[in-house]
Amino acid sequence: MTHWIPVCTVEDIPALGARRVAREHGLDVAVFKAADQRLFALLDRCPHKGGPLSQGIVFGHSVACPLHNWNIALDSGQAAAPDQGQTPRFALKVEHGLVYLDAHELDTLATEAKRPLAGPAARLDCSGPARRACPGAASGAC
Ligand code: FES
Repeated sequence: MTHWIPVCTVEDIPALGARRVAREHGLDVAVFKAADQRLFALLDRCPHKGGPLSQGIVFGHSVACPLHNWNIALDSGQAAAPDQGQTPRFALKVEHGLVYLDAHELDTLATEAKRPLAGPAARLDCSGPARRACPGAASGAC
C-alpha cells in the first residue's frame, strides 16, 4: 500500500513552473505545473548533463532544460528525439488541493544520482600526499 505524504499545495506551484521538494537522501524532486494545471514530478536532474529541470521552461507537457535546451517529457522523463535519456519520474496525486508524493519513492528512487560539477573547475582532494605537495598548503594559503 502506498504511503502518500503531502509536500505542498497546488497553489504553491507556479503555472508553467516548478517547486522543488528536498529529500533526506538524493537530489530534489521537481513538481511541475503545466498550463492546463496538470502536475508532474521528476527528479530535478536532466538526463543530459544533470541540469536543474526545475529551473527550465515548461511548455505543453514538457520542460526545456535551462542548460542546453533538451526537451524532457513531464509524464515520462524521456528526452525528446534525437536526444536520448530519461530522468526518473515520481508518482504524484492531488487531493483537496494538496500535492502528495509516494514516501517510499522519495526514500529510495534515484537516491544515488549526483549532479555533476559545472564548468572547468573540479573539486580537489587536498588530503594525504597531495596536501604535502600542494604549494598552497606549504604557504598556509589553504
Ligand atoms: S544538462 Fe540539460 S540539456 Fe544539457
